[in-house]
Amino acid sequence: MSCAARPRPEGHRGRSPSSLGDDALPAPADHERQAGAGPVDQLDGVRVVDVERRGGPERAVAAVYNSAVAAWALAAAWEVGALDEMHRHRRLDTAEFAARNGLDGPSVTGLFRALSAVGLVRREGTEVTPGEAFDEAFRTKSFFHWLTRGSGELFRDIPAVLPVAARTGDFYRRDAAAVAYACREIDEVTYAPAFRRALDEVDFAPTGVADLGCGSGARLREVLRRHPGATGIGIDIAEPPLRVARAEATAEGLAERAEFVTGDVLRLEPAPGYAAVELLTCFMMGHDFWQDDGRAGAVATLRRLRAVFPAARRLLLGDATRTDHPDDRLPVFTLGFELGHDLMGTYLPTLAEWESVLPEAGWKVVDVHRIDGTVGETILVAE
Ligand SMILES: C[S@@+](CC[C@H](N)C(=O)[O-])C[C@H]1O[C@@H](n2cnc3c(N)ncnc32)[C@H](O)[C@@H]1O
Repeated sequence: MSCAARPRPEGHRGRSPSSLGDDALPAPADHERQAGAGPVDQLDGVRVVDVERRGGPERAVAAVYNSAVAAWALAAAWEVGALDEMHRHRRLDTAEFAARNGLDGPSVTGLFRALSAVGLVRREGTEVTPGEAFDEAFRTKSFFHWLTRGSGELFRDIPAVLPVAARTGDFYRRDAAAVAYACREIDEVTYAPAFRRALDEVDFAPTGVADLGCGSGARLREVLRRHPGATGIGIDIAEPPLRVARAEATAEGLAERAEFVTGDVLRLEPAPGYAAVELLTCFMMGHDFWQDDGRAGAVATLRRLRAVFPAARRLLLGDATRTDHPDDRLPVFTLGFELGHDLMGTYLPTLAEWESVLPEAGWKVVDVHRIDGTVGETILVAE
């Protein structure tokens, strides 16, 4: 329902549509619904357009706009717990949820209005129930979070990152903690099941494990839970996810066996703590190996890993690979992920490219797990 098009009751003039809610607006008069009624109204001398009475391009463009707002709303509703509650109870009173959680009521209702605008939920005032696609949106919510909360600054600053002359040094910004928050769940819907199978196939009990680009450390904790005799090192370039990783390892009683250190995986040097590492894992950051010098850079980094971790017997490398979905068949995530990496100047290799660089760098590919995801997710197993 379009709020902007309708004259508002006198006493409400000046308040935002979201603070009124759809139900606060008068129903359209009969003459407004009749064929031939123009889509443009006059309100206090301001020309307003009722998009609801227009079809075709206007409706299509409104859908694009509303989808953009809904992407932010979905990520936020997840982060504040409203989406989980709605998923669990199959209904939500947005005003009650907001009051119970110390949140602004009209804003929370507005989030769900955005989700209602794109059909993910049905809304009657503050009462919200799932729409047909809600469960799929719930399953893929972390992709929206990655895009908006994690990569929001990058997409906001697109004009600043386009000039070739500007693309040096730290030319873009993202929120590393938010990316890590999203990646944890992205992992659950993509890599985790295949990762567990690949771990099952590791035919030795590693005593030392290292996770490269560990983020908030969930993967390392999983390996340590499976191998009670092992100690692990998580290495990440960003401090915020490492703080989360340390806190969660402590909460799980794994602090004695898990160390989380700041480091650039592309520039690691041998260290005593690395000498006994037998199992290496690296998920959702391998494409960074190609960042500095393309194929040659990837070969150099993979060779360096051989030197830095001389006892490594197995490498599990899970990452996205470049896809070629047609423009009109793009699934959720692919477009944001691939455009985002183009904006960041990060090359996304194909699976064939990985299979060619690993042997050149001294790693024999012994297995490939293709995952039925949307960005060519694959786990390569190498020895
Ligand atoms: C997409 S997240 C994946 C996190 C984790 N591996 C997982 O599977 O959930 C990528 C992580 O790699 C880290 N990263 C990116 N480039 C890195 C580098 N050169 N050295 C170390 N960490 C890096 C980022 O800070 C981020 O935490």
